[in-house]
Amino acid sequence: MRYGHFDDVQREYVITRPDTPLPWINYLGCESYLGIISNTAGGYSFYRDARLRRITRYRYNNVPVDLGGRYVYLRDDESREFWSPSWQPTQNEVEDYSCRHGLGYSIIGSRYAGIEAHTRYFVPLGENLEIWQLTVSNRRRSRANLSVFSAIEFCLWDAQDDATNYQRNFSIGEVEVEGGVIYHKSEYRERRNHFAYFACSAEIAGFETQRENFMGPYRGWERPQAVERGCCSNSIAHGWAPFGSHRVKLTLEPEESRQIVFVLGYHENPRDRKFDPAGSLTIDKSTVKPVIARYLQTSNANAAFDALRSYWSNLLALCRVETPDVHTNRMVNIWNPYQCMATFNLSRSASLFESGIGRGLGFRDSNQDLLGFVHMIPQRARQRILDLAATQLSSGGAYHQFQPLTKRGNNEIGGGFNDDPHWLIIGVAAYLKETGDWSILDEPVPFDNQPGSEEPLYEHLQRSFAYTLERLGPHGLPLIGRADWNDCLNLNCFSDEPGQSFQTTTNQEGNVAESVFIAGLLVVAGREMAEIACRRGLQNEADFYAGQVLRMEQRICEHGWDGEWFRRAYDHFGNPVGSKECAEGQIFIEPQGMCVLAGVGLGDGKASQALESVHERLACEHGIRLQQPAYSQYYLHLGEISSYPPGYKENSAIFCHTNPWVMIAESRLGHGDRALDYYLRINPSAREELSDLHRCEPYVYAQMIAGPDAVDCGTAKNSWLTGTAAWNYFAITQWILGIRTSYDGLQIAPVIPSSWRGFKATRRFRGVTYHIDVRREGRGNCVELRADGCAVRGAVVLPPPAGQSEVRVEVTIR
Ligand code: GLC
Ligand code: GLC
Repeated sequence: MRYGHFDDVQREYVITRPDTPLPWINYLGCESYLGIISNTAGGYSFYRDARLRRITRYRYNNVPVDLGGRYVYLRDDESREFWSPSWQPTQNEVEDYSCRHGLGYSIIGSRYAGIEAHTRYFVPLGENLEIWQLTVSNRRRSRANLSVFSAIEFCLWDAQDDATNYQRNFSIGEVEVEGGVIYHKSEYRERRNHFAYFACSAEIAGFETQRENFMGPYRGWERPQAVERGCCSNSIAHGWAPFGSHRVKLTLEPEESRQIVFVLGYHENPRDRKFDPAGSLTIDKSTVKPVIARYLQTSNANAAFDALRSYWSNLLALCRVETPDVHTNRMVNIWNPYQCMATFNLSRSASLFESGIGRGLGFRDSNQDLLGFVHMIPQRARQRILDLAATQLSSGGAYHQFQPLTKRGNNEIGGGFNDDPHWLIIGVAAYLKETGDWSILDEPVPFDNQPGSEEPLYEHLQRSFAYTLERLGPHGLPLIGRADWNDCLNLNCFSDEPGQSFQTTTNQEGNVAESVFIAGLLVVAGREMAEIACRRGLQNEADFYAGQVLRMEQRICEHGWDGEWFRRAYDHFGNPVGSKECAEGQIFIEPQGMCVLAGVGLGDGKASQALESVHERLACEHGIRLQQPAYSQYYLHLGEISSYPPGYKENSAIFCHTNPWVMIAESRLGHGDRALDYYLRINPSAREELSDLHRCEPYVYAQMIAGPDAVDCGTAKNSWLTGTAAWNYFAITQWILGIRTSYDGLQIAPVIPSSWRGFKATRRFRGVTYHIDVRREGRGNCVELRADGCAVRGAVVLPPPAGQSEVRVEVTIR
């Protein structure tokens, strides 16, 4: 069953009934001011950091779900009936409900009692504010006398504190109201120099800034007293819960429409110009007023919306494909890059599953997110790389996470996840291949943000690699440390204390537990280091890296091979994990994907044998599972992975992040049919018709889909903020469709299904637009290239002469 449909022309998903299985959300903003918005207008906003600068309040895991957000209420002042056009929170039986989630905006509304109302929510580029454009139309035969109420709840900035520290918080709330604008200024009197505001373009008939006055005692969002009564008390919040609501009276003749613009924003004043008059405690509004005035005008709001639309048109034009498969086209051309923007901006911090107060930006996560983002805005990717590298420790190790607002490593989580450093190499390699900007390697970057410790970025990469070489175990494979990519395979943890963190507990640090996955990753990273060193003219270093790669490949084949697949690890006692010898957890997806992707075992049949084993033992109709058989009980020596009930998360769910590794591996072996088959099993658009089962949004990837060991096999969880976005984008564009960035130029080596006659693509790369036309003339994967009519030797199209901005590439597959 479906709850809506894709509108590919408008680049929107149109939800046509409000009671989706879960709230289906979208993101507003793509720079500093960000927010989430559900299909019924629930959600919240923040400035840069969802924990430390939360602008509006949101209660996670609420009952009912998703209550609180950016609400509009309409009231018929004659019948006294009131409702919300977004269905929530009043849940009236609205007609023609729709929510159009677009790229950076959502339009939500319906029709009720002959009144149509839609609100368009978005964040203008370059501004720290959001605009709500509410259009109300009277479809009755008679005049309508209405009241409109806006409603938001201000958060007292630090979302963690806001949800816990009531003894203080109920006393600190402060607001000002001036010219119809509600200013939220809690703590502005002391150390903050920022405030929030909520403005309305229409003349207001009243307002509330104290939540209690809006809601009324013992009432909630669904039946606020102010709306029911149809009047406001003009309350001024002193302590308790600062709120923002305007009331506007609206008289509409039949067929008349009116638009009201609301602007909710965040503003900072210079520290020495906080107050006006100086010495008072009144906000100096001289710099914010022009901003508010500007966006309250419909024409300016419309222009800002158009600018946002063209911003996305330009970003999406950087890589467009036209294949025989609608789900591939839709995800590659619209939704997957859009999700990559969200993961780049938010890492794993704020979604419906990530509360915004838990995790900062992950070191490995953010590096991987670059794979799907770097082609869009390389300058931002560059800055992110430098920020990440600046949190690296001088040992080459890394803090597992850092806080976006301070850009400092997060001490509470610490480090010791031994795969982390390699991801920096992979992130930088992706940047170099996309941009050819070698200057980044010479950028001085500190370690652990310590002034004076700066070394060129290249040195950081070298230390990343050395970090692993200095930490090898008994088989010469990399030690796993706290965990590798699989945060939940905790081989040194041995925790039997309820509630103890698997992520930060190490009860038995032996130098024994090794990771075959990190070994595969080292091969990938080492190949990049060799290429990079070679192009920097450092042949000795290039040889060194190539030598290390070779050695590690040998060790993987010697100690990491189980007979039919790659082993996963060796535990604290030196016993294999992910082996026929194990009672449970015999085969894991990660080493099969990563080792084959790295090129290990290509020559001697191990690679194809490993992928056959994946197909036989791990693949199911909803994707490829993480391991099998699932752990049926908690194993002290394995940690969090065995803490999950079978079929969920790392314990044998389809952990979608890992699936593209296998797609890439299959492509490397020339198995285009199987690669695309795997791609489509987890492609959200291809799963749209399963919405009742899948439950999460059909336009973005989720982190996991419950596996066959779970009762609700096929149900997705943790949508939006997952490395799945970047890796799937990378797998489909660079490997299956084969339009691959390389150090020297654009490589084109598609491995597509045998039934495809071909496809077309446009790719902008280093300032040149490549028009690519792929035709299949045989059943194999041999590729012949012609660039502007001339045969290309090898698979890499070298950059055209300076000044030429377009290249036509004809690709024949035989
Ligand atoms: C989550 C984490 C990521 C980790 C993965 C597997 O997605 O964000 O860092 O690699 O889980 O445990
Ligand atoms: C990763 C894993 C999750 C684990 C978490 C701990 O996100 O996916 O299962 O609980 O890390 O931070």
